[in-house]
Amino acid sequence: MRQHVNPLSKYFQEIDSIPKIDQIFKNSALPTHLDIGCASGEFLFQLAENNKNWNYLGVEIREKLIIKAKNKLKEKNIDNLYFIFGNADNLLKNWIVQYPDKILESASINFPDPWFKKKHHKRRIIQTDFLNRLSLIMSNKSLLFLKSDVEELYQYMNSVISNSLIFEKVKNKNLNYLETFNPSKIKTEREKYAISKQLTIYETIYKKIIMFN
Ligand SMILES: C[S@@+](CC[C@H](N)C(=O)[O-])C[C@H]1O[C@@H](n2cnc3c(N)ncnc32)[C@H](O)[C@@H]1O
Repeated sequence: MRQHVNPLSKYFQEIDSIPKIDQIFKNSALPTHLDIGCASGEFLFQLAENNKNWNYLGVEIREKLIIKAKNKLKEKNIDNLYFIFGNADNLLKNWIVQYPDKILESASINFPDPWFKKKHHKRRIIQTDFLNRLSLIMSNKSLLFLKSDVEELYQYMNSVISNSLIFEKVKNKNLNYLETFNPSKIKTEREKYAISKQLTIYETIYKKIIMFN
């Protein structure tokens, strides 16, 4: 397993500057999905190639992985995918100041780093402030997809998300548009590994609650 990157270290506070959405995508009117901790973007490449009616953004704190993703993107003719290097929390902080629009219809956090020790829990990506910031750029009723193969982390994230009162669990997973667009159907790199090791995969889909418009 790779050494995790401490998102709170000074070294990891730098992020790419964020262009306006209409400078990123050929058709900025399409709904946008953000994948947080996208690694080298394999999950997003599959989504972007299969769903031309969505735009996809990936943010990743490990520079080598995002360079790999950006190089692969240059070789391909894909105009609905964009990668941003940096700490997702800093990306959101900058984003809400620069572009206070609710540009996301959906977001995913797949297999985030677990940070097992209690004293390291503050390094976990899902924190109340992080969810508040994320919700500010998510439109009404937009979806948040969460997956993990670490039960303790999954319970922790569910409890932070439920306590935030910003999102509620989607009980009926047969939502109309999930049939045409469902990122949870695509296996991420960590998910393929977890399946190969027969690990249990925990997943929940959340919907942003309407009162936080
Ligand atoms: C266990 S990997 C999972 C990668 C991918 N989502 C998957 O399912 O295969 C977690 C990823 O999140 C990235 N990450 C961790 N903290 C982050 C942060 N604060 N901002 C952006 N990326 C982060 C890590 O560098 C790593 O690539």
